Amino acid sequence: MTAKIVTTGLALRYRNGHEALRGVDLVVGPGELVALVGSNGAGKSSLLRCLVRLQEPTGGSVVVNGVNVRKAGARQLRRLRQDVGVVSQRFNLVERIGAFHNVVHGAIGREGSRCLVPALCTTALRAEAMECLDRVGLADLARRRVDTLSGGQRQRVAIARALMQKPWLVLADEPVASLDPSAGRDVMELLRSIAVERELTVVAALHQVDFALTYTQRIVGMQAGKVVLDRPTPGCTVEQLSAVYGADPGRLEAVN
Ligand SMILES: Nc1ncnc2c1ncn2[C@@H]1O[C@H](COP(=O)(O)OP(=O)(O)OP(=O)(O)O)[C@@H](O)[C@H]1O
Ligand SMILES: [Mg+2]
Repeated sequence: MTAKIVTTGLALRYRNGHEALRGVDLVVGPGELVALVGSNGAGKSSLLRCLVRLQEPTGGSVVVNGVNVRKAGARQLRRLRQDVGVVSQRFNLVERIGAFHNVVHGAIGREGSRCLVPALCTTALRAEAMECLDRVGLADLARRRVDTLSGGQRQRVAIARALMQKPWLVLADEPVASLDPSAGRDVMELLRSIAVERELTVVAALHQVDFALTYTQRIVGMQAGKVVLDRPTPGCTVEQLSAVYGADPGRLEAVN
């Protein structure tokens, strides 16, 4: 197995001196669905951002899909980011245009700015965007403006847009944090089934421990910038997860 993500001694110190990552060693294989868990401020988002250098690490190394991310030039980095889908809590959609055109934007990396001009979109590109919307169950709402959609529907549009990139890796930063439990389950289920059928590698920062246990294969727990737990999900115990949160196991038992 060739690892898809390898971080070694990854460190990040923000300009204000805060050490957000302190020697993170992480290896993620192809097709793995990994949950990153940990309290607020543990470093989950910082780690996700460092993987594609949306945040510049200050120490250690990051190799993603064979690319030494810290040493990569602008073009290499752009190529790497092109096939990495990013899904976040805030959806990051263009609110005042339709779902369909948001999804088409996902192809900008490979098709260029013609994706921004509806009249310039090729038939093939349109068909592809419809396929992506159909995959997330939103074909019927293709023409709806995003600002009229529910949170769950918006997140599906964001996932469809990520699929349009034809990614091999999806980095999801709290993809269900702003959704109600039922919409959250649907989105997690969707992410998992898409990951399996397209053999995607997924790293998802999650606050819902029960979702991590239900939908992922491996749990990486972070505390104060360090990895303190790294286990296959089926072997994870409530005690181990509680320790990551510095919590009383009874509290997490109640969550599950
Ligand atoms: N731009 C920044 N400048 C300075 N410190 C930052 C910056 N961004 C994050 N931090 C700090 O780095 C630490 C890690 O933050 P990060 O956002 O990675 O945590 P997190 O695990 O994603 O937390 P949450 O669960 O709240 O999203 C926190 O203490 C945070 O205050
Ligand atoms: Mg975060």
